[in-house]
Amino acid sequence: MSTFIIRGGTVVHAANSERADVLVRDGRIIEVGIKLDGTAATEIDASGCLVGPAFVDLHAHLREPGNEAAETIESGARAGAVGGYGAVVAMPNTTPTIDSAAVVGYVYERARHAVIDVAVAGAITIGREGKNLAPMAEMAALGVRLFTDDGNGVQHGGVMRRALRYSSALGVRLAQHCEMDDLAGSGVMNDGPLAARLGLAGRSALAEEIMVMRDIEFVRASGGRLHFLHLSTRRSVELVVAAKADGLDVTCEVAPHHFTLSEDRCASFDPVFKVHPPLRSMADVEGLRLAVARGDIDAVATDHAPHTPESKDGTFDEAPPGMLGLETAAALTWGAVNGDAHAFFNVLSRRPARVAQLRAGELGVRRIAHGGDVAPGEDASLVIFDPSDSWTVNRHALQSRALNTPFHDMVMTGRVRGTVVGEPVWLNGEFR
Ligand code: DOR
Repeated sequence: MSTFIIRGGTVVHAANSERADVLVRDGRIIEVGIKLDGTAATEIDASGCLVGPAFVDLHAHLREPGNEAAETIESGARAGAVGGYGAVVAMPNTTPTIDSAAVVGYVYERARHAVIDVAVAGAITIGREGKNLAPMAEMAALGVRLFTDDGNGVQHGGVMRRALRYSSALGVRLAQHCEMDDLAGSGVMNDGPLAARLGLAGRSALAEEIMVMRDIEFVRASGGRLHFLHLSTRRSVELVVAAKADGLDVTCEVAPHHFTLSEDRCASFDPVFKVHPPLRSMADVEGLRLAVARGDIDAVATDHAPHTPESKDGTFDEAPPGMLGLETAAALTWGAVNGDAHAFFNVLSRRPARVAQLRAGELGVRRIAHGGDVAPGEDASLVIFDPSDSWTVNRHALQSRALNTPFHDMVMTGRVRGTVVGEPVWLNGEFR
């Protein structure tokens, strides 16, 4: 492995930041300080940049096995590296579902060749059918720490309670996609006056909030750890904040599209804006942005959901829900935190690493620990982020196999210059 020095950046620690160089040898941070001696080390210029722990995405659909036309672990991992991610958690709504040790093993095998670390979320129920619990213990034995039926919420209250009790005995966390099917129905955008005007069926905010309420009460009654995926309304976040104040072990994430884009985009009838849960009202968008800036959110997670052009370019009614996220999340999050570098690394790295249990000494991650401090002795999971670089998103220039970014042609401020997973994997526009 190599020796290199990241020179002249602003190193962002959990509580403070400093102008310093970072010396890395054999995948470990050796020294952090000013004017370090770089003899025999490759120099990486980080002037004008923030240097912090590489990002951790709790929510990426890498589509393998089963839909390799849309994404593979390899292409999704490259998209992650460009986005500043050192590790991503691959979602289990694949074909077959990641609901057994055998499929987890298959994904791990594929992930061995990926450019960044890929952890796996297992399904809560077999086939994500919401009926019978998946063998979480055998997946947990392989290091799986997060379980979800994402794509759908677990609808049946009894099944969810049983899953919470079981997961709590195993020391793992469940992650819920909150939408009650009986309320969301076949809706394709946010329910409300705009949906009525466009003649599109709505998915209500209540479909999400009622499941958040229900599951909080399940945790209160029977314990367990629960992570709320891609919350899309202000009220949902308020519910989770109140539950935390009550001492419950609940965490939550929001996706950049939900704090950036409102339902108004659906008026174009462009299916690139179709996502579950749907883009909401401007009041919700602003509420989520504030919640990110205030630290009420544990993680910004991408819900990176690649779809082939053949499937996504249908009618708004028929197109599958989901949008790309890995390569645009950092800039959008930077836009939401008002220049607060600590909040930035907290929501993109430190807190999600804790939720996914990707810290040192924990199982389920292939190469190194993530979300640690930038300090001697820590594994070198690092990102170099230039907060003032402006760039225009071009869907054809993304690493993802798919094209369905809702941010095509949008100007972003803030760009990842380098991603280090033990050694630099992406630097100044090139893979190493
Ligand atoms: O919009 C979505 N797309 N929401 C989900 O929960 C699943 C995802 C997908 O897998 O495409």
